[in-house]
Amino acid sequence: MTYDDAIKALSSDALKFVKDDHVIGLGSGRAATALVKSLSKLIKLKNYNIRGVPTSLQIKLIAEKGGIPLVDADQVDHIDVVFDGADQIDSQKYVIKGGGGALLRENILFSLAKKVVVMADKTKFVKNFTRTVPVEIHPLARNSVINNIKKLGGYAQIRTLERGYPFFTENGNIILDCDFGVIKNPKVLTQKIKQTAGVLESGIFFRKPDVIYRAKENGKFDII
Ligand code: A5P
Repeated sequence: MTYDDAIKALSSDALKFVKDDHVIGLGSGRAATALVKSLSKLIKLKNYNIRGVPTSLQIKLIAEKGGIPLVDADQVDHIDVVFDGADQIDSQKYVIKGGGGALLRENILFSLAKKVVVMADKTKFVKNFTRTVPVEIHPLARNSVINNIKKLGGYAQIRTLERGYPFFTENGNIILDCDFGVIKNPKVLTQKIKQTAGVLESGIFFRKPDVIYRAKENGKFDII
C-alpha cells in the first residue's frame, strides 16, 4: 500500500461533498487528477448535471477525457466545492500552492468557493512552512520583485525547466520560488508579498481549506 492508494481511496470518499447541479472547481496535480477520475465515474453513474471549472490545461485534459462538462471561472458566479492538492500545509491550516504553477487560477477558485477540500499526503504536513513559496509575477517586474523579496528576508529564484529555459505559466507570467526559511507568520508574509507591484499571486493563500484529507503511507487516510 502507498500514498497513491490512499489518495485514490480518499478521492472516492471526498465525492460525498458533490451534489447534482453543482459547479465543481478542479485543482491541478496528482491529488486533483485522482479526484477528477473518481468524479467522472460518479457523474456517469448518477447522471449528475455537473459543471467543472479547471485550473490548468493539465487538469482540463483529464476532465475532458472523463467526459466532465467544463466552463471557465468567468462563466460562473460561485463554485460549490473546489478539490485540490497542496504543496505544504501548516499547523494553522494555511496551504502553500503553486508547485505545478497553477496558483493564480487555483486561488481564484478558492475565493469563489463555498467549500474548499484539500487532499495531500502525510509528508506535506508541517508545524511551520519550510518549503519555498511560489510567487507568480509579471516578467517585467522580475528585478524589482526579487529585490523586494530580499527585503522581506527571502531569496527568490526564477523557476526554470530542466534545460534552463524559464517556466511560463498559462497566464504568460513567470514564477519566483522564494526561500524564507521557516515561516512562522504566513498571513503577514503573503500580505507583504502581494503588496509588491508586479506580483500577481502568492502561493500562500489567505483562504484556508474547509476540509483537509491526509493520505497515509499504509493506503489509509484521515480528515483533519
Ligand atoms: C499546482 O500548481 C499545485 O498547487 C498543486 O495543487 C500542488 O502542487 C499539489 O500537487 P500534487 O497533488 O501533485 O502533489
